[in-house]
Amino acid sequence: MELLIYPRYEEMSAVAARQIADLINAKPDAVLGLATGSTPLGVYRELVRMHLEEGLDFSEVRTFNLDEYVGLGPQDRQSYHCFMHEHLFQHVNLTPRNTHIPSGTTRNYPAFCAWYERRIEDCGGIDLQILGIGGDGHIAFNEPGSSLASRTRLKTLARETIEDNARFFDRKEDVPIYAITMGVGTILEARHCLLLASGTSKAHPIAQAVEGPVTAMCTASALQLHPHVTVYLDEAAAGALVSHEHHRWIAANRPNAPRTDTWWQNTVDAVEYAGDTGVHQR
Ligand code: F6R
Repeated sequence: MELLIYPRYEEMSAVAARQIADLINAKPDAVLGLATGSTPLGVYRELVRMHLEEGLDFSEVRTFNLDEYVGLGPQDRQSYHCFMHEHLFQHVNLTPRNTHIPSGTTRNYPAFCAWYERRIEDCGGIDLQILGIGGDGHIAFNEPGSSLASRTRLKTLARETIEDNARFFDRKEDVPIYAITMGVGTILEARHCLLLASGTSKAHPIAQAVEGPVTAMCTASALQLHPHVTVYLDEAAAGALVSHEHHRWIAANRPNAPRTDTWWQNTVDAVEYAGDTGVHQR
């Protein structure tokens, strides 16, 4: 796991967006896994800016969203279909048929979920998955107790999640209690995961996910088992990490960080040699 801590949300979002743009530039038909909620908004704003000002081209990019509320159709203001349209899709040149969001209104959920999994596979798998984290440590809508091997399926939302997400609805009673969500197992198959968190309300779940045991009671902790995860945090979200200073030191001394002394140069040579042999240092 690579942890990167930034003073402010805007800075963290800009660096994460740059990483996504670098992937799109290197692989124009990259497959992105997308999240909703307030955390990725800064990343989406930055991607839109890069499209408008730098010509970042989404025409061949394929996307898969993590989840959708059951019972909400694409036109519903609080649906994740609507969210994605409002914050990203309508502002960039994504090809509509290349975008995928779970259906909240299908008549056959098991069949739809199986199709969604197949579709991801047919597209070659997810290259880069954007993730937020819930107050109860969830990724996507994999609530505490979810199997760490779970696949796309229907899930009951935890009370805490319903309360957290009530801010997007007129009344708490309007928050659906079911969602269709990619599973933890589905997410762990992405080639690279970016976990984003901002604000003090995320400090405790982040500490659990990064420093706690791998447990189904905090599904984000399953990311510890993934070979390539980058965690982007602002200072507030990093506030409960006991290993805060350790992660700062590691991040400041990454192999690609600019250094001049010989000790460092020797280390870099060793890392490059390891790279030649296909061994990754993470
Ligand atoms: C949304 C999703 C959720 C959110 C999480 C954090 O697609 O999968 O796991 O990422 O609930 O939400 P925010 O960012 O609103 O705090």
